[in-house]
Amino acid sequence: MILETIVTTLGADGTPHIAPFGVTRTGDDLVIAPFRPSVTLNALEATGRAVVNHTDDARLFAGCLTGRRDWPLVPATVIAGLRLADSLAHWEVEVVRVEADPARPRFHCRTVHAEAHRPFAGHNRAAAAVIEAAILCSRLHMLPWEKVEREMAYLAIAVEKTAGAREREAWGWLCDRVAAFRAEDKTEPQVLP
Ligand SMILES: Cc1cc2nc3c(=O)[nH]c(=O)nc-3n(C[C@H](O)[C@H](O)[C@H](O)COP(=O)(O)O)c2cc1C
Repeated sequence: MILETIVTTLGADGTPHIAPFGVTRTGDDLVIAPFRPSVTLNALEATGRAVVNHTDDARLFAGCLTGRRDWPLVPATVIAGLRLADSLAHWEVEVVRVEADPARPRFHCRTVHAEAHRPFAGHNRAAAAVIEAAILCSRLHMLPWEKVEREMAYLAIAVEKTAGAREREAWGWLCDRVAAFRAEDKTEPQVLP
């Protein structure tokens, strides 16, 4: 199962980094698989540690994808690292094995500490739509415009019907990003199978 999370790491020089990652959970095994190049990948190689944060605030996903990475962090509980100050829960993990790959290595981790902070307050379609749109935004350079437009139009329905203030703000950031990329992009998009 893949869980959409916010991964916080420290670089070799101690610089914090925040990025959304879909982490694969299979029993006790947790895999973080960053495409190269990636600041998170460099941090995992350098420190062998990360915090996997669970949040219902879709602005984290949209924000990181649109250059808004300045979210409050506090020290992790048992590892040398930082976690999101405002999350539902977090897992502190250590890398135990790396599956090397030139494009996308897979960092297998074990959870050394898990902590809950707030109760889950329920599913929201707009929040899920924002996460989908954030993934689209991370792939704009690889996708045909027709697909981006069609998917954004579909996801907008859930946002219009069900969003709260946080989801509307996050959606606005992503729409601006798509519009800016479209305005800049002069090349023919690559059509993926
Ligand atoms: C919900 C979500 C899941 C993502 N999962 C991955 C992933 O598994 N691997 C990856 O390389 N990028 C993933 N991305 C894109 C990264 O967040 C983005 O490219 C990020 O900047 C990673 O690079 P960095 O470590 O240099 O920040 C995801 C984005 C979103 C919105």
